[in-house]
Amino acid sequence: MGEKVYTIASGKGGTGKTSSSVNIGTSLAMLGKKTIIMDADIGMANMGLIIGLENSPITLHEVLSGKAEIEQAVYEGPGGLKVVPSGISLQGFQNSDPEILRDAMVKLIDGVDFLLIDAPAGISKDAIIPMAIADEVLLVVNPELSSMADALKTKVLTEMVGRSVGGIILNRVETEKCELTSQKVAGLIGSKVLGVIPEDVNVRKSAAFKIPIVIRSPKSPAAIAFKKVAATLAGEAFTEEKSAEKKEGFADRLARTLFGGKK
Ligand SMILES: Nc1ncnc2c1ncn2[C@@H]1O[C@H](COP(=O)(O)OP(=O)(O)OP(=O)(O)O)[C@@H](O)[C@H]1O
Ligand SMILES: [Mg+2]
Repeated sequence: MGEKVYTIASGKGGTGKTSSSVNIGTSLAMLGKKTIIMDADIGMANMGLIIGLENSPITLHEVLSGKAEIEQAVYEGPGGLKVVPSGISLQGFQNSDPEILRDAMVKLIDGVDFLLIDAPAGISKDAIIPMAIADEVLLVVNPELSSMADALKTKVLTEMVGRSVGGIILNRVETEKCELTSQKVAGLIGSKVLGVIPEDVNVRKSAAFKIPIVIRSPKSPAAIAFKKVAATLAGEAFTEEKSAEKKEGFADRLARTLFGGKK
C-alpha cells in the first residue's frame, strides 16, 4: 500500500474505531514499524482510557488550543507504540481548534512508518478534518445494513474532501449468525475488505485491563484478525509465530509428559 497516514473512521459511533486503532497500531509497532496512534475524537476521547494514558498532562487538546507543541503530547504506549491521547475535559474540547490538526500531523510523521488517526463518529467538522488530512481513510463497519449505509455516507464525504477509502475493517462479525458477508460488504461499499474481526469478549476485557488485546490475549480470534490487518498494511505476510508464542494445548502437554515430546 505504501501510505502512512490512515484515518480510522465510521459513520455511526461504536463500530470499533478506537479498538481497531489501538490494536492495529500496537501490532504494527510489534512488527517493528515506527507507529503513532492519535486520538482525534477530541469531544469524546477514550483512547487514553483503554490504553492507560488517561492522566496525561499534555494532550491533543493542549496542542489544538495552541498551549503545547505536538511533540509534548506523544507518550510511550504498549509494544513500542507511540500514542497521542486527547483530553477528556469538555473545556479542553471547547478550546481546541481542529484546523490545527494538519500542522500537528505534518510535524508528527517525520521518520514515522505509520500514523493512525482515530476519528470521531459522525459528519461534524472534527470528524471531517481527520479524513481530509489522511493519505487514506479506513472504514470500520459492522455487519448490519445501518452501519453499511453510514459507511457509504462516510465514503462519499471522504471523496468530497479529495481523499479515498483504502479499505474496510469489518468488525464484530458473529459467524454463526446470518450476516452480510465480507464479499457483499465490499460490493455494497465499493472498497476492499482489509480484515474481518470477529465478535470477541476479549476486546472488552482487554480494554478494562487497559492492555490491547493483541498483547493481553494474542491468541484470541480478534487479536489474530487485528494482527492480520496490520501485516496487510505493512505489506508483510502474516505468520502467527511472529506475533506470539504458540500456547501448548492439553494434548501436546500430555504427549510431552507421557512420551517426552515424541507423539
Ligand atoms: N470485535 C469486537 N468484539 C467485541 N466487542 C467489541 C469488538 N470491537 C469493539 N468492541 C466493543 O465495542 C465497544 C465500542 O468499541 P470502540 O470504542 O472501539 O468503538 P468506536 O467506534 O471507537 O466508538 P465511538 O464512536 O464511541 O468512538 C467497546 O465496548 C468495545 O470493547
Ligand atoms: Mg472511539
